[in-house]
Amino acid sequence: MNTTPATEPLTMAVPKGRLLDQTIEFFESCGLSFSFEKRSLVAHETSGLLKLILVKNSDLPVYVKHGIAGMGISGEDTLYESGTEFYQLYTFNFGATHMCLCCREDYDPSMDQRQLAVATKFTRFARDYFHGQGIPVEIIRLGGSVELAPVLGLAPYIVDLVETGSTLRANKLKVTKTLAEIQVRLICNPAYYKLHFDRINAFITRLQGITTLEMPKNE
Ligand code: PRP
Repeated sequence: MNTTPATEPLTMAVPKGRLLDQTIEFFESCGLSFSFEKRSLVAHETSGLLKLILVKNSDLPVYVKHGIAGMGISGEDTLYESGTEFYQLYTFNFGATHMCLCCREDYDPSMDQRQLAVATKFTRFARDYFHGQGIPVEIIRLGGSVELAPVLGLAPYIVDLVETGSTLRANKLKVTKTLAEIQVRLICNPAYYKLHFDRINAFITRLQGITTLEMPKNE
């Protein structure tokens, strides 16, 4: 457990992928700016409030669980797959996506077997979803480029995140069903929150202030 003294910056893990630019842009709108050293995986907020640790998306819950980073920014998809409970302190107004069941544009559902074959990175989510619906399912775990599975005949269906839909279109796939909305959360290690709750709450109030300013006016 990282017991950061009060004078040290709060630590936060941020995923290196597509959420990083949106996260930095959002923090800048809150008046926070960061110095990035070339190729470094750590960034410091210039007033000393925050230290960002840039990690692989799927590893982020591990860093927060072990207190290496006290807080983290993560999609609900990654949090669910980790199977770990965190304090969820804030929902960001960027990065929302959908978890979808998809197949080839020309797939005929009358070809479905009794047991649905589904390729996915999100095995926990997919298993729980289909079991919850009482649908027999074979889950085929993949690490990425999941869209290839229906194209190459590994499985007729995939469960994957769809944001703009451009990856599906490029592979001649379509959404069969939207299974869940996925939002981006600020999570916190519970022990870290107990140690730093006053500073963390002040930080969240700052984020909420920005969100309030961006709310459309009711005229
Ligand atoms: C995600 C997801 C899709 C793609 C969807 O992958 O798994 O492949 O984004 O986005 P779109 O609807 O805007 O095209 P990601 O880029 O996170 O990387 P990965 O394929 O390596 O998991």
